[in-house]
Amino acid sequence: MYTLEDVNTNRLPKHVAIIMDGNGRWAKQRGKLRVFGHENGVEAVRKTVESCAKLGVEFLTLYAFSTENWNRPKIEIDTLMKLLVASLRKELDTLNKNNICLKAIGNIHSLPPKAQKELSEVIVKTEENSGMTLTLALSYGSREELKQAIKEISFKVKNNIISLENIDEAVINTHLYTHFMPDVDLLIRTSGECRISNFLLWQIAYAELYFIDVFWPDFSEHHLVEAILSYQNRERRFGKTSEQLS
Ligand code: FPP
Repeated sequence: MYTLEDVNTNRLPKHVAIIMDGNGRWAKQRGKLRVFGHENGVEAVRKTVESCAKLGVEFLTLYAFSTENWNRPKIEIDTLMKLLVASLRKELDTLNKNNICLKAIGNIHSLPPKAQKELSEVIVKTEENSGMTLTLALSYGSREELKQAIKEISFKVKNNIISLENIDEAVINTHLYTHFMPDVDLLIRTSGECRISNFLLWQIAYAELYFIDVFWPDFSEHHLVEAILSYQNRERRFGKTSEQLS
């Protein structure tokens, strides 16, 4: 079993993003309701956040609720929102103790008022923390994010705030929800599905992708380390040749 000691912390991915998938199937395997899977998923979130912070990962982004997830049964949506509120309340002290700064990306205004309130409280109470930035993607959809950025930039061009010639990648980055974080280095998806599901499409342009056949509630420190070791064994060429890199 791998442990955190197996990781070479000099070559850590700066930004790890995770598509936490398989809670429903994990519960079904046990003859339980889907919400039981989400409840157990929270524990995997807690452990993963702790491990990443211990290692020194600078940015961890978790896909907690997609724009498409609003189509799920109301009872499941309500449970996810309740879990979010309860976890934020419960983990505030731990976030502060571990110097973690919480952020959220997505259409936050579409969340229930209670969730918005709790979220903004924890964001404010952790904003001075200088350690890892933990970002929850909530009611998040990458195409929606890009659509909004295009609208804002177009508005600025129309009103002569920026010129068409000056639109470059940096300008686009500043108009995304993710303007405060670097591109993703390592994207992990659990549950064996090999899809991106509308997550950080622009930001994963050069990310290493890691798909693991384990349902999210079973994702442990061992699996996280395995993913990071796989990342560290890959050569990231960013379009260049191996010779150019060396
Ligand atoms: C995917 O499993 C998981 C989700 C849609 C929600 C993830 C949420 C949590 C882990 C808990 C709450 C989060 C926080 C940050 C406190 P699925 O339901 O799609 O599983 P399935 O593909 O097997 O149906």
